[in-house]
Amino acid sequence: MEIEVARNSYGGTGKNFCDGASSCAYQDKVASDWGGERGVYLVWEDLTVVLPNFGNGHTKRLLQGLRGYAEPGRITAIMGPSGSGKSTLLDSLAGRLSRNVIMSGTVLFNGKKRRLDAGVAYVTQEDVLLGTLTVRETITYSANLRLPKTMTKGEIDDVVEATIMEMGLQECSDRVVGNWHLRGLSGGEKKRLSIALEILTRPRLLFLDEPTSGLDSASAFFVIQTLRNIARDGRTVISSIHQPSSEVFALFDDLFLLSSGETVYFGDAKMAVEFFAEAGFPCPRRRNPSDHFLRCINSDFDVITATLKGSQRIRDVPNSADPLINLATAEIKARLVEKYRRSNISQKVKAKVKDISAILKETITERPVHNKFDEKPFGSNMLNPAAC
Ligand SMILES: Nc1ncnc2c1ncn2[C@@H]1O[C@H](COP(=O)(O)OP(=O)(O)O)[C@@H](O)[C@H]1O
Ligand SMILES: [Mg+2]
Repeated sequence: MEIEVARNSYGGTGKNFCDGASSCAYQDKVASDWGGERGVYLVWEDLTVVLPNFGNGHTKRLLQGLRGYAEPGRITAIMGPSGSGKSTLLDSLAGRLSRNVIMSGTVLFNGKKRRLDAGVAYVTQEDVLLGTLTVRETITYSANLRLPKTMTKGEIDDVVEATIMEMGLQECSDRVVGNWHLRGLSGGEKKRLSIALEILTRPRLLFLDEPTSGLDSASAFFVIQTLRNIARDGRTVISSIHQPSSEVFALFDDLFLLSSGETVYFGDAKMAVEFFAEAGFPCPRRRNPSDHFLRCINSDFDVITATLKGSQRIRDVPNSADPLINLATAEIKARLVEKYRRSNISQKVKAKVKDISAILKETITERPVHNKFDEKPFGSNMLNPAAC
């Protein structure tokens, strides 16, 4: 069976194929530079989240039997319309679900059920920052609280400066964060500062909930490019994202597309366009692929289509061949979900989840992290475009 595994940034292509001996790629990787040390293989299977007592004794399914994986060296996007379950999926994987919902299924970190509390970071949608502190003060404050007590002041300062560099915050490092009456950082800078606070502890697995919401396309691109560089340094990065530009979408390695808690697509982000075309919903040539995917599965467009149908333009073209105009979103979504379920892509995901779970269970033994700063900091030229 063919197994695809990611390589680190030094590997170049980001892909590697292992023919026949399915265990070789993972075992080599575990033994190599970051399989068991720097990155985390995360797999989830039959992941279901329900909300009991959802009015009249009914139960609402927020996530329905999801299966997927995330690998070191790769960045995964979770996309879907508002309310489709993106945050719920992130929270399930990160073990942060609220108490009023019930989760079932399996989530494995490096083949084990145990949660890796150390080495996992989560960047929430809202930036929680003190407006009167500068960027450097904010990072130093957090570093002093969160880094090991054994570190000297000089070592902590080095980590702070390295983090400022990594997140591209040099130019605003002495500027105050700002608030409603104090002019300060831009939205993109604030988001990069929030990420900086989380990567201080050098997590192996980084979750982010919509880090680009509210940002202009250039700032969003910079944020995701920085995350991609963190992934290329051997970390595992999973981020939900709402309607990325085509440039931002192109930065993602894997895509998990959700609609009402169901998997519409999970696999290589670049193959999603082909999948939609084969399912009968080709992306028009000049449309941003992520806009097209959401256009297909967002039921809010039913109202828009109905309005357009009532207008002159579409009444003049009664036999329009556009499946997006002729079919209700529920029908399109059902076709895509069914097509994905029967696809080779889905079968490969199933096999790969099984392989990762079985092989890593045998091969990875978690080593306690005594001093997270034994290793060198994130790639030193992470903001060098040549490294992307
Ligand atoms: N703890 C909860 N209690 C009640 N409803 C919830 C809870 N978590 C999520 N939901 C509901 O589940 C659906 C998916 O929510 P969410 O994961 O936040 O979607 P997204 O992040 O894609 O916008 C929404 O309808 C939301 O109201
Ligand atoms: Mg959300």
